[in-house]
Amino acid sequence: MKILLSMNGVTGGYGDADILQDVSIQVDDKEIVVIVGPNGAGKSTAMKAVFGLLKIRGGSIIFDDDRITGWAPNRIVQRGICYVPQVDNIFREMSIHENLEMGAFLKKGDLSAAYDRVYELFPDLKERRKTLAGALSGGQRQMVAMGRALMLDPKLLLLDEPTAGLSPRYMEQIFQICRDVRDTGVAILLVEQHAKQALAFADRGYVLAAGQNRHEGTGAHLLADREVAEMFLGG
Ligand SMILES: Nc1ncnc2c1ncn2[C@@H]1O[C@H](COP(=O)(O)OP(=O)(O)OP(=O)(O)O)[C@@H](O)[C@H]1O
Ligand SMILES: [Mg+2]
Repeated sequence: MKILLSMNGVTGGYGDADILQDVSIQVDDKEIVVIVGPNGAGKSTAMKAVFGLLKIRGGSIIFDDDRITGWAPNRIVQRGICYVPQVDNIFREMSIHENLEMGAFLKKGDLSAAYDRVYELFPDLKERRKTLAGALSGGQRQMVAMGRALMLDPKLLLLDEPTAGLSPRYMEQIFQICRDVRDTGVAILLVEQHAKQALAFADRGYVLAAGQNRHEGTGAHLLADREVAEMFLGG
């Protein structure tokens, strides 16, 4: 198994204070990896670090054999990482199709293969492609955000709480789409508030707390860990 992403002992934050302290996360090729942990643990901050949105003061980030530490986000996108932030991740005043088009703004030439691939993953979106994104349900909006990120054909997709506020049915649908996306050869690193369900679904997981690594392992391993269960999964 090839290591696709490795974040090695990363320390950094937004200003002078370090939010992440010596955080290490690894994602292998075609793997689904989940980050869980309490509010304020630094989960979103860890994703931002990978995407070049954080001031990193120590450690390194290697992606697909390139050292991307300190790279600007647009260069990271072009290298093959796409990021769906926790909030404000779609253009509400634009149609679904226009949202996808915006996602591909860095891509030159014919986009038809990219649209086909995304619409195949999200048949619901294809049917409604002229609908304004702001008029969609929360679950569908999340699909638009994921679809937009996939227009650039990344090797790694970063998803920050893709199921936040969704019903269990939509949550399962988003998880299934993640599996489908993975099966097309894309690795996924996601943050999840629904820790139990996410650990059951992901290949591996990391528990972060107070900006540090606390536990890591396969989902099954973490779900069976007493301490993890007591501290983070509600017993
Ligand atoms: N833009 C920012 N500027 C300064 N501090 C920030 C910023 N964003 C987050 N923080 C701080 O960094 C810490 C970690 O925040 P982060 O958003 O990474 O947590 P999280 O684990 O994603 O939490 P949640 O589950 O609520 O999304 C918190 O103390 C937060 O207040
Ligand atoms: Mg967050």
